[in-house]
Amino acid sequence: MLQAITKSPAETMELGKVIGRNLKDGAMVLLDGELGAGKTCLVSGIVKGLGMHAMVTSPTFSLVNQYVVGNLCVLHMDMYRCKTLYDLESTGFFDFWQEGSMFFLIEWYSNIEKFLPSGGMKIGISVVAESERLLTIQNEEVLIGWPAGPGATFPAAGDS
Ligand SMILES: Nc1ncnc2c1ncn2[C@@H]1O[C@H](COP(=O)(O)OP(=O)(O)OP(=O)(O)O)[C@@H](O)[C@H]1O
Ligand SMILES: [Mg+2]
Repeated sequence: MLQAITKSPAETMELGKVIGRNLKDGAMVLLDGELGAGKTCLVSGIVKGLGMHAMVTSPTFSLVNQYVVGNLCVLHMDMYRCKTLYDLESTGFFDFWQEGSMFFLIEWYSNIEKFLPSGGMKIGISVVAESERLLTIQNEEVLIGWPAGPGATFPAAGDS
C-alpha cells in the first residue's frame, strides 16, 4: 500500500501524471472517494501521464468517456449511477474489451465491483481539509518501475 498527501488540485494532477507514466498496459485503475474528492482531477493527470493531451471532463452524465490516440485507448467511467450488471452492460463496458491497448479508469467502482475482473489498482481519495487530500493506493503492482516494499514513496512528480 502507498499513501500520499496532496495540497492542491495541481499536486493531485501531478501525482496522476506519475501514475499514468508508470501504468502497465491494460491496467485498470479503480477510484473511490466522496463527491468532489478529486477522482476526476487525478484521472486528468493519469491521462496526461499516458501521453495524451485530451481535455478530461467528468463522465457524470455520459457514464463513459473514451480517449483514443493511435492504438492507445483510455476509458474513463463514472459509475455513480450504475448499480446493476445491466447498468454496466448498457455502458458498453464489456464490448470495449475486444479492442487493443486499453486502460480503464473507473470512478465509483465500488458500485459495480462484483462485476469487474480482479487485479485493478485501487485508489481511495479522502478529504483531509479544503485543499488537502489523502490518497491511498492498493495493488500498486499494476505500475511498472515503481519502488516496492515497506516505506516506498512516490517519486517526485516532474513536469514531463
Ligand atoms: N488536493 C486536491 N486534489 C484534488 N482536488 C482538490 C484538491 N483540493 C481541492 N480540490 C478541489 O476538489 C474538487 C475535486 O473535483 P473532482 O471533480 O476531481 O472530484 P470527483 O471525486 O471526481 O467528484 P465526483 O464524485 O463528483 O465525480 C475540485 O473542485 C478541486 O478544485
Ligand atoms: Mg468525478
